[in-house]
Amino acid sequence: MKISIKELSNNYLNTEGAVVVFAINIEGGYEFQKPALEFNKKTNGALLNAANLSKFQGKYGQMVELLAPNGVAASRIILFGLGDLDGLTPLNSEHVGGKVINKIMYSGEKNVTFVGGVVAANAALGVRLRSYKFDKYYTTEKNLKKKSVHSVTFLTVDADLSNNTFSDLDKIADGVIMARDLVSEPGNILYPESYAEQIKELKNLGLEIEILDEDIMEELGMESILGVGQGSSSETLIVIMKWYGSKDKKAQPLALVGKGVTFDTGGISLKPGPGMGDMKFDMGGSAAVVGAMKAIAGRKAKANVIGIVGLVENMPSGTAQRPGDVVSSMSGQTIEVLNTDAEGRLVLADCLWYCQEKYNPKFMIDLATLTGAIMVALGQEYAGIFSNDDKLCEQLCVAGKTVDEPVWRMPIGEAYDKQIDSDIADMKNIGGKFAGSITAAQFLQRFVNGVPWVHIDMAGTAWKQNSSNIAEKGATGYGVRLLDQLIRDNYED
Ligand code: BES
Ligand code: MN
Ligand code: ZN
Repeated sequence: MKISIKELSNNYLNTEGAVVVFAINIEGGYEFQKPALEFNKKTNGALLNAANLSKFQGKYGQMVELLAPNGVAASRIILFGLGDLDGLTPLNSEHVGGKVINKIMYSGEKNVTFVGGVVAANAALGVRLRSYKFDKYYTTEKNLKKKSVHSVTFLTVDADLSNNTFSDLDKIADGVIMARDLVSEPGNILYPESYAEQIKELKNLGLEIEILDEDIMEELGMESILGVGQGSSSETLIVIMKWYGSKDKKAQPLALVGKGVTFDTGGISLKPGPGMGDMKFDMGGSAAVVGAMKAIAGRKAKANVIGIVGLVENMPSGTAQRPGDVVSSMSGQTIEVLNTDAEGRLVLADCLWYCQEKYNPKFMIDLATLTGAIMVALGQEYAGIFSNDDKLCEQLCVAGKTVDEPVWRMPIGEAYDKQIDSDIADMKNIGGKFAGSITAAQFLQRFVNGVPWVHIDMAGTAWKQNSSNIAEKGATGYGVRLLDQLIRDNYED
């Protein structure tokens, strides 16, 4: 789908294809914006008639569609309600783009033109995000509903500025879409080796890619992550992406660390059958990191950023780790693995330790679909964050609000930490019955050596059962925009 932003000039009335015009809600009714007025005039009042016939009030999200109108070149006019004037926020504009493209994507219409009304760059982002669908495995006519729209144009009074803004947002959308693709792929297609191959392709954006294989990990003493992959016929891999965009290439980097369990059966502590297929998305944290690195490199962010993902498959087999096994870790601390389904923390433990030892980062943020318990606490709206650093939390909260990938801070502390003490090793990998997300975070914190750190538990937000204004149901790509916004707001030269 081609997206362009052009200067709004007077000949918009000759536009062919679908045209989108706007109205706002005012006391007791609605008010057409100028382009809507003009189209109404040209169609001899048909737009106004259509609006009144369908109880249009200009409320946010209301749409009226006028097909084959007389008097204009357009094949249809969509009248979109923006609500009151503060309906023109970037996020609202994004949703306008999403709502309109969702309505018209399969309509048979080829070209869509938005005439003023919205913040063009953000509406364009909404179009890109909402028109995404993971449809590569459909082969039959019935499933392969063809998208008819192939070109979307925004006419706006500040086209240069909007194009400038959109060039960054477009790169961010690339990152979100890559994350969605990765999360949507089933476990037979996306496993550690094939995942690493895909990440390697990001070299063409100027990212340096390094891969740690099982031999290297063994030398480094990473028994914790290796134990998780022990039952799988895939090789466990850690992939490191490096972006040096800061003026000072030696400046301390920011570090993003992701859980990349390409499939989580639970291992010998096998999960119940129903719903197990969902566990292909257990690499959602790593996908957020990969997508963010793609966005950051794509828009040439002026910061040094390291992305580290632990890629591993958690399978039961004759070689799999047993409940009760004791493993060491790169940090030297020993772990009693009482439940092989609490594997994410074992993956992150070695990744976090390695990250600090090797890169001495300014901060470290890990992302993981870590616990079912975070969904009990926060549902699918907020991700939970756990941290040793108030300032970083505040920055994340602000970024989350800006891009509508919100986070909610959860407590951590000594009383919770005690719950993962083990009788026979330094710690066990599960706590008690309560506060499962917090005891998981406490486990991670034992592998954080003083650096500012945030853990983002995104088990609830990586995948949605229902479509939204900016995403088809399924993989959300959650985390990409959050991380990008955090960096762009606070950490670029
Ligand atoms: N990947 C799961 C967490 C998860 C569950 C994500 C449901 C999304 C939806 C994780 O590896 C896991 O199995 N966690 C266990 C931990 C427990 C054994 C302490 C859980 O949450 O039940
Ligand atoms: Mn698990
Ligand atoms: Zn898992």
